[in-house]
Amino acid sequence: MSAKASTAVKTWRIRLPNSACFPGQCAGWVLVCATILSCTALGAAETIGFPEHPHWEFPIPAQGPFRPAAPGAEAIADLSANACGLCHQSQFTAWQESLHAAAVSAGLLGQISTFDTTTQEDCLSCHSPRQEMLEHWQEKGLEGADALSGIDCATCHVRGRVRHGPRAFAETPHGPVQELPLFRQAEFCAPCHQFDDTGLSVNGKPLENTYVEWQRSRYARDGVTCQKCHMPENLHAFKGIHDKETTRRGLLVHGWRTRDGLRVRAGNVGAGHALPTYVTPRILIRLEGSEGEPVLEHIIARKMRWSRDEGWVEIADDRLLPDQWITLDLSLPEGQNGRVSVHVEPDYDYHERVYPALLKMLTDSLSTEERSLLQQARGESGTTAYRLYQFVCPEWSGHDKPCNEQP
Ligand code: HEC
Ligand code: HEC
Ligand code: HEC
Ligand code: HEC
Ligand code: HEC
Repeated sequence: MSAKASTAVKTWRIRLPNSACFPGQCAGWVLVCATILSCTALGAAETIGFPEHPHWEFPIPAQGPFRPAAPGAEAIADLSANACGLCHQSQFTAWQESLHAAAVSAGLLGQISTFDTTTQEDCLSCHSPRQEMLEHWQEKGLEGADALSGIDCATCHVRGRVRHGPRAFAETPHGPVQELPLFRQAEFCAPCHQFDDTGLSVNGKPLENTYVEWQRSRYARDGVTCQKCHMPENLHAFKGIHDKETTRRGLLVHGWRTRDGLRVRAGNVGAGHALPTYVTPRILIRLEGSEGEPVLEHIIARKMRWSRDEGWVEIADDRLLPDQWITLDLSLPEGQNGRVSVHVEPDYDYHERVYPALLKMLTDSLSTEERSLLQQARGESGTTAYRLYQFVCPEWSGHDKPCNEQP
């Protein structure tokens, strides 16, 4: 392994030029910064430490030439996910449907060329971090994008052509497997799901802060890692807020009819970080009387705005920290019944703000292909919403009654 040995806090990401985030210097950057980027210029983040690990060096160094160990070993020369999938079928099937497999998306490809090359490398260092992919992108650009592998098996498991995993194997078709305890630790996921102190921070909080949120929760104290929740039984589906069942395990909602009206309690009972952890999703809880009114709407999200003068400003942070509960009350006449619904829009900010703004601001600089990729991304980001819960609540009958969940 080639990493510089160090016990210091690692600077995971390339440091970007100070101008990178200033309005007008790079239109696309300014817009997407909201959701994603490491950029040096704005905000003084608190110092974030997660231990450096040589397994994560970006880009992931090229694997080097294949030296067959035995006759017939050619079968394992191929480091593509398809090749791994020939023998590791269950991991492959689950991974194929995951967002890690889809990380080179229309939304990424539609905008990446509008950045300078250093920034493009930075994007790929999370979205398709193998050196071979970077070189392919530098050579072929958008035309060769189909071959970019996203976050594939080799990204996480193979270094210098040696397979690494949670335990050692002396003998496999691809030689010994090297054991790395990191595979069972939350720090494994941190380099891509946590901005370091060079990353964009607003109101003292990095825009990607999942690892730190986890570290401060009881889950960290109890040894409940990211893998325990997101890879149950080693399942490689990496499901999150885009999956209804996963979100239901995180957000619990109860409703009651009381004398005064409707009372709703909503709590983060199963997400080991803020729910939701990113700035892009939105969860809408709506209480209403059966006559369509009165209505109370509550939004769970980290709301931000950007302007030329102020840069990024946090308007509100109504996300639920682990174990945090909120109570919502709607007054209703005793004779009226009501409804409660909870809607999740995983890509709300992309759909409502990021893609429309990119399409508008970059009008003159986008190629036809990039424009249609961004339009496709905008369309897709509008289709991921779902209803998490729906309850009907009776009229007042002399004592408090729970509302009934509807399918
Ligand atoms: C020709 C079949 C074959 C191919 C192709 C293959 N593997 Fe394996 N792999 C095995 C076998 C057999 C083992 C031994 C463990 C077992 O039997 O499950 C193994 C073990 C592993 C382990 C350790 C498993 C554990 O339970 O801890 C990892 C990680 C791994 N392979 C990753 C990969 C990756 C990544 C690729 C693609 C780049 C790949 N393998 C391609 C057959 C294969
Ligand atoms: C090499 C960088 C990288 C690593 C390592 C990584 N991720 Fe991710 N992950 C991403 C990116 C990028 C996305 C978003 C992909 C997209 O939608 O384009 C993502 C998406 C996800 C999602 C889907 C979220 C949703 O919106 O539903 C989950 C869950 C997730 N990762 C969990 C993990 C866990 C757990 C680990 C550690 C075992 C991990 N990731 C390791 C980069 C990474
Ligand atoms: C530190 C790792 C990291 C870097 C660097 C990064 N991303 Fe991401 N990106 C993520 C993760 C994690 C997600 C999923 C969570 C979310 O929705 O914010 C994501 C989501 C996205 C999405 C929405 C999902 C999709 O794939 O359609 C787009 C678009 C995107 N990133 C583009 C970019 C661009 C462009 C750059 C470079 C300018 C970039 N990202 C740099 C980690 C990163
Ligand atoms: C985002 C990183 C990531 C990606 C991508 C990924 N894995 Fe894994 N894989 C892990 C982690 C972390 C573990 C250990 C999970 C644990 O023990 O809790 C693991 C465990 C394994 C194991 C051993 C445990 C088991 O029996 O499942 C095999 C085999 C494996 N992965 C194969 C693959 C293959 C094949 C692919 C691609 C189709 C792949 N992985 C993609 C992170 C990843
Ligand atoms: C106790 C279980 C649990 C632990 C631990 C946990 N998660 Fe989650 N995670 C969830 C649940 C449930 C959701 C769906 C609700 C939500 O979005 O918060 C989720 C959602 C996500 C998402 C989707 C994006 C979003 O905005 O919420 C990502 C990415 C993610 N987790 C990454 C991680 C990483 C990285 C770690 C470790 C640092 C981790 N999770 C630890 C349960 C967990």
